[in-house]
Amino acid sequence: MNITASAPGKLLLMGEHAVVYGYPSLVTAIDQRFSVTLEETGVGEVVFDVPEGMDTRFIAKAVTMMETAWRVRFKGLTFHTKNGFSHTYGFGSSAAVVVAAIAAAAFYFGKNIAPKELFDLSYKTVLAVQGKGSGFDVAAAIFGGTLYFVTAGKIITPLPTKDMPLVVGYTGVKADTVTVVNEVGEKMKAQPERMNKIFDAITKLVEEGATNIRNGDWERVGRLMDVNQEYLRDLGVSSERLEALILAAKGAGAWGAKLSGAGRGDCMIAIVPKEKRKNVEEAIVKVGGQVIHTTPHAMGVRVES
Ligand code: MEV
Repeated sequence: MNITASAPGKLLLMGEHAVVYGYPSLVTAIDQRFSVTLEETGVGEVVFDVPEGMDTRFIAKAVTMMETAWRVRFKGLTFHTKNGFSHTYGFGSSAAVVVAAIAAAAFYFGKNIAPKELFDLSYKTVLAVQGKGSGFDVAAAIFGGTLYFVTAGKIITPLPTKDMPLVVGYTGVKADTVTVVNEVGEKMKAQPERMNKIFDAITKLVEEGATNIRNGDWERVGRLMDVNQEYLRDLGVSSERLEALILAAKGAGAWGAKLSGAGRGDCMIAIVPKEKRKNVEEAIVKVGGQVIHTTPHAMGVRVES
């Protein structure tokens, strides 16, 4: 018996870092998917068959978490994981693989797992390996679409939207999320008042962003992203490469642009008028970025066979 489940990657639209400290964020699932096939081999223990360079700690931890939570024993099973996107982009491959693995295993064991239970188990798994994280990537992998998300899934509200005019540029640099999150954590310890002021200001942008995403006022969303980027610069999480790509996108007519995720590398995003898309993409490539063609507001986890 083979069961395959797939889950989408994500992009943070606004609110990164603030969301680690109890503030809201906006996230969209993207159509780059990660899939896990659970194969019943009937022999030996559990085997993890992963693409080269992929961290197996997440999927291994998911198995021990499920064994404890469901009081079952995994034996004679192989998890085959398949990359729909490079894990270097920062699209949330760890969260997507954990969610897909748990969804496939739940189906295998005949568990009717509710989305909230899937979220809690997946988030606990990611935290156990990584130590820190708000869980927004787990929520995007499960629920899909575009979400207003507060730390640890305290609030997860779908934002109805369509035709998000998003351009994604990869810097070519893999960001180390945990290191950047820890650095921001040090600043939070040293200057809590200043940091909370910044996070309060980002929250106002996120709230307004949510309204404008619902209304489809993309020009306004772009402007809000620009201001969000200013605060991210203040936090010290931008980089020369990110700034070069952002500047290029804006120079070519983007309504707004910012880094997406932890910063220091990975991807930037831009909100772009339709007629300027080509110019913006060319400008990103011209300064050494790689345009990643992806569709936002993608479907959440699903069992495929
Ligand atoms: C990293 O992609 C986004 C952060 O906000 C961390 C998190 O929310 O887990 C920096």
